[in-house]
Amino acid sequence: MNPNHLFFPLALLSLFLFLSPNKASSLHKSHKGCFSKIYAFGDSYTDTGNPQVLARHTVFAKSNEPVNRLCDGSRVIDFVCEALSLPPLPPYKSTSSNFSLGVNFAIARSTALPMDYEDDIGVSHPLMRKEASLNLQTQVEWFEKFLQEVDCKGRNVSACKAELGNVLFWIGAMGVNDYARAISSSVPLHGLTEMSIGSICKFIQTLLKSGAKYIVVQGLPPVGCLPLAMSSSPLHDRDKIGCAATANSAIMIHNEILQRKLANLKTKYPSSTILYADYWNAYLAILMNPKKYHFEEPFKACCGAGGGELNFNSDSLCGSKGTSTCNDPSKYINWDGIHLTEAMHQHVADLFLNQGFCRPSFDRMIENKSGM
Ligand SMILES: *[C@@H]1O[C@H](CO)[C@@H](O)[C@H](O)[C@H]1NC(C)=O
Ligand SMILES: *[C@@H]1O[C@H](CO)[C@@H](O)[C@H](O)[C@H]1NC(C)=O
Ligand SMILES: *[C@@H]1O[C@H](CO)[C@@H](O)[C@H](O)[C@H]1NC(C)=O
Repeated sequence: MNPNHLFFPLALLSLFLFLSPNKASSLHKSHKGCFSKIYAFGDSYTDTGNPQVLARHTVFAKSNEPVNRLCDGSRVIDFVCEALSLPPLPPYKSTSSNFSLGVNFAIARSTALPMDYEDDIGVSHPLMRKEASLNLQTQVEWFEKFLQEVDCKGRNVSACKAELGNVLFWIGAMGVNDYARAISSSVPLHGLTEMSIGSICKFIQTLLKSGAKYIVVQGLPPVGCLPLAMSSSPLHDRDKIGCAATANSAIMIHNEILQRKLANLKTKYPSSTILYADYWNAYLAILMNPKKYHFEEPFKACCGAGGGELNFNSDSLCGSKGTSTCNDPSKYINWDGIHLTEAMHQHVADLFLNQGFCRPSFDRMIENKSGM
């Protein structure tokens, strides 16, 4: 297939994810006081505003639309905060925020791998070039700087380390953007998977060494089921559920290897609790049984242009001229062809927190943390 077909829209994946107003509605359990705060990391699916702050200086100037037009509400991470009775996380880059109950280090467009990798594989695109500093390594650097300048300031190392044991570390989906880049090049996907997971694991080790005791790591969702991937892959490239097969099989392998590596980390750090949040299966549970979750449109984007089965046109993304928004986003899984609706985020969060889609379960972690 022509790699550019997938590359362009996938590149946009990261460009158009922005902050949403915090209007989380309730999940039924509350675990007040269990964790002192949450530190979140990830890409556009977890980010709650860092690029908006950075936007003043970078490529986001391209977008003339108000950014919150491009998203319809809360994310998984917002529902996690709510379940733990913590306020929504302020983005690290919002300098005026109070970080005493948590920080969000996630960056939309963030890759798991640093950019020198991009040079190695020879990917070159003007939009990509400008993002050079934003990857998982950036988030690690922000985190370490934050510990130094804020969280651990004036405290000795052991006191600081002990306190990180009371923090919930939430690692959102991480790596989608790397696949977007790879698909556009001739680089073999398995090589990328190895490197990208290596980078994620190295990052998790950094957290563990800093004193992290409770870490939730989200796998990747079935990216091949997004209108973005479905509209750009050839019609014969379909899996059993009707999604883009090539993209989905790469993601599936990624998730399998990630889980194996997490098992190794658990052995190496037995006093820490590491959960795998099974995004893939949570997403599919909903996709295979949409009515149960009150969804009427499992694939079609709520906001976009072109109508049809997907209502997706990569040249005319939600928020740009000529696009419109559906009347009731809560009936749609997909918001703009790339990102998910608030309703979908809420159901996924519920599956993670209350329905056993974290392994070990979220409840088990809460019990452990509470010393039960
Ligand atoms: C930050 O928030 C915490 C918890 O809500 C509060 O105790 C503290 O006073 C706040 N700090 C500032 C500088 O507003
Ligand atoms: C570090 O700080 C804690 C609490 O403030 C104190 O109990 C401990 O003795 C200190 N340790 C060192 C090595 O200074
Ligand atoms: C919590 O889990 C950790 C890691 O498995 C274990 O070392 C610790 O003893 C557990 N604590 C409780 C109270 O279950």
